[in-house]
Amino acid sequence: MIETYFIQVTYITAAAAFILSLKWLSHPTTARRGVRVGELGMVLAIVGTLVHHEIVSYQWILVGFVLGSAIGLPMAVWMPMTHVPQRTALSHAFGALAAALVGTAEYYLHTEELSTFTMTALSLEVVLGFLTFTGSLMAFGKLQDLVPSRPVVYKGQNVVNLSLLAVAVGIAVYLVLNPGRTELFPAVAALSLLFGVLLIIPIGGADMPTVISLLNSYAGLSAAAMGFVLDNKLLIVAGALDGSSGFILSVIMCRAMNRSFTNVLFGGFGQVRVAAGQVEQRSVRNATPEEAAQILEAAGSVIVVPGYGMAVAQAQHKVRELYDALTRRGVDVRFAIHPVAGRMPGHMNVLLAEADIPYDRLVEMEEINPDFARADVALVIGANDVTNPAARHDTTSPIYGMPILDVDKARTVMVIKRSMSPGFAGIDNELYYMDKTMMLFGDAKSFVGELLKELSGTRVGA
Ligand code: TAP
Repeated sequence: MIETYFIQVTYITAAAAFILSLKWLSHPTTARRGVRVGELGMVLAIVGTLVHHEIVSYQWILVGFVLGSAIGLPMAVWMPMTHVPQRTALSHAFGALAAALVGTAEYYLHTEELSTFTMTALSLEVVLGFLTFTGSLMAFGKLQDLVPSRPVVYKGQNVVNLSLLAVAVGIAVYLVLNPGRTELFPAVAALSLLFGVLLIIPIGGADMPTVISLLNSYAGLSAAAMGFVLDNKLLIVAGALDGSSGFILSVIMCRAMNRSFTNVLFGGFGQVRVAAGQVEQRSVRNATPEEAAQILEAAGSVIVVPGYGMAVAQAQHKVRELYDALTRRGVDVRFAIHPVAGRMPGHMNVLLAEADIPYDRLVEMEEINPDFARADVALVIGANDVTNPAARHDTTSPIYGMPILDVDKARTVMVIKRSMSPGFAGIDNELYYMDKTMMLFGDAKSFVGELLKELSGTRVGA
């Protein structure tokens, strides 16, 4: 009796913690609290589960705990921030596999006792679990360059894929009505595993973060279905939260890239596109750290536009020093945050928060765009696609329609990058050829370091 109460209380508290965690994670000022309360919820959920009298073997749980920690801990410590999308894909793969295997075990252990409702939930759990497992592994492989990241497409592909899914679902429905036909179960598992691979093959590496977010949603739904099978309310709540938040995130990402869902899933899009033949040899204005520093310290307002290059260079701490140096000189410095700058949602927020840049200095795209016209300098640090004016007017551009930061409207534009190489979309950026643009060639961290040296050579207020 006490055991039941204890479990109920820990589960309800854990569910509340998960909901609060998601709420707090949605803003940079409360995100750290969100992570901590989410961790607390997970600990409570584990403790509550471990006191269940159905627990079969604590020894095996201990083995799983040690093994999982031995893999997860080094991954968390050593995997660089830029690899978080593939790390997330791996987590979904294993989470979904766990759900699918629990469903499989439940099916074979209790075939005779499964009601139609439980069998329906179990089928959903197994189909979603297995397809998410192979789908996430493929997404991981594409992002890690273990399998070709370009879309592999052929005629009639969508028909083949959807027919395969229809067969898997058809057999699953038959099993719901005739649970005793155990020989059909492996077919559902095999077809779902195959569908996961085929679902990801036509999608290019560029769309993988969106797809991973969608797979997150599938893994969550599979876990929620598992909650119905095991009659575990916490799993239902956590799975539903995971499923819906993953879905909402994919929608937000699609919007920020001006893509539709169906376009991501069926478009065969997302390959790195090099606009062959369109790149003409135009000249750009190259400037030194000294020239740039002089303009920066004379400026009244500077808008910094961070992008993927800042993450690669790990320049955020140097950028913080630059922020301090300019602020001390009375320059108003703010940071323009594009929703898909970098390679994962919130990438720039996380990096700038790590460098302790005050949150009120980070301004979202819609809010800051009107201010570019009044800014003396737009300082682009390792961003490219999110500043490309072609998105506004060039209907042939692959990024046409994507909302961008209006960097080109600032009085002076400075761009720190190493070369004229394109960004993620593989296209040239007309911003670099404008008269008001100064190209500051170099690694983001070293170049900002050079700027700081120049600024330290001049007196504050001089
Ligand atoms: P990108 O367009 O990818 O451009 C990054 C630029 O950084 C490159 O042009 C590169 O030029 C430069 N760079 C790389 N390493 C550098 C270093 N060490 N120092 C200085 N510069 C360096 O980045 P973005 O503007 O942030 O745009 C993000 C892109 O990713 C968008 O196309 C977006 O749609 C896509 N995407 C984002 C997400 C999410 S959720 N954030 C998900 C999927 C796709 P050099 O090589 O010349 O240095």
